[in-house]
Amino acid sequence: MKITVINGNLRRGSTWNCMNLFLEKLSEYNETEVVEFALPKGCPKFCTGCFSCFLNGEQTCPHAEYTEPIVKALADSDLIILTSPVYGFDVTGQMKALLDHLCFMWLSHRPNPRLFQSVGLVITTTAGAGLSHTAKTMKNSLQFWGVKKAFTYKKAVAALKWEDIPEPKKAQIKKEIAALAAKVSKAAAGVSKLPTPLKTRFMFYLMKKMLKTGKWDNPCDRKHWESLGWLDGKKPF
Ligand SMILES: Cc1cc2nc3c(=O)[nH]c(=O)nc-3n(C[C@H](O)[C@H](O)[C@H](O)COP(=O)(O)O)c2cc1C
Repeated sequence: MKITVINGNLRRGSTWNCMNLFLEKLSEYNETEVVEFALPKGCPKFCTGCFSCFLNGEQTCPHAEYTEPIVKALADSDLIILTSPVYGFDVTGQMKALLDHLCFMWLSHRPNPRLFQSVGLVITTTAGAGLSHTAKTMKNSLQFWGVKKAFTYKKAVAALKWEDIPEPKKAQIKKEIAALAAKVSKAAAGVSKLPTPLKTRFMFYLMKKMLKTGKWDNPCDRKHWESLGWLDGKKPF
């Protein structure tokens, strides 16, 4: 199973350890090949809002040297894992900055056909609160990139670092993550049989209609949809 992990911080803290435990457990079910990025090292830039990715193609992003390897890895994955600790009730700034760079891959623009046959996972930890909002920020991107099913692991660890989490709580985390690994492994193995989410179908047909009627008229997006036959009856799911 090919896996891309994007970590929303550089710390090998609670979030990274949860992710690492997950990968360990997953490797009991599958042969895994993991490409891991850590932010901000993997993309130390903010989106400038130049619109060049939308209008001229993602290769024209001023930060393409960082975004292209990430996009390439995502488009070669059976499983995409996004992780972030909660910072101020949301993802880290560096995770949000990367997700901004990848908006061109949303269903409303140029989704990559491969991602419709992949599974996603969001992992987040917090000292006390903010898990749902943080998970949602990352899940939004996974879902609007088209992934077939997006799982979530969120944990209030009541700690500032992994080492401070008491052993009974760590044992509980390990148990929960083991169960999750079994579920994700099963979903990824049977991805072609999973139902396509209603939201994905809706967005796909809405964008198709808008491109066909000229209500959305971005030639770069149009070329993408046309070249994949999506305006002539083909669909990615
Ligand atoms: C800048 C910053 C902001 C944070 N904001 C919150 C917060 O809004 N709510 C909360 O309960 N914990 C907050 N925390 C605590 C972390 O979410 C928590 O300790 C998390 O498990 C750290 O993950 P890590 O060990 O993977 O870095 C914050 C920590 C930092 C450094």
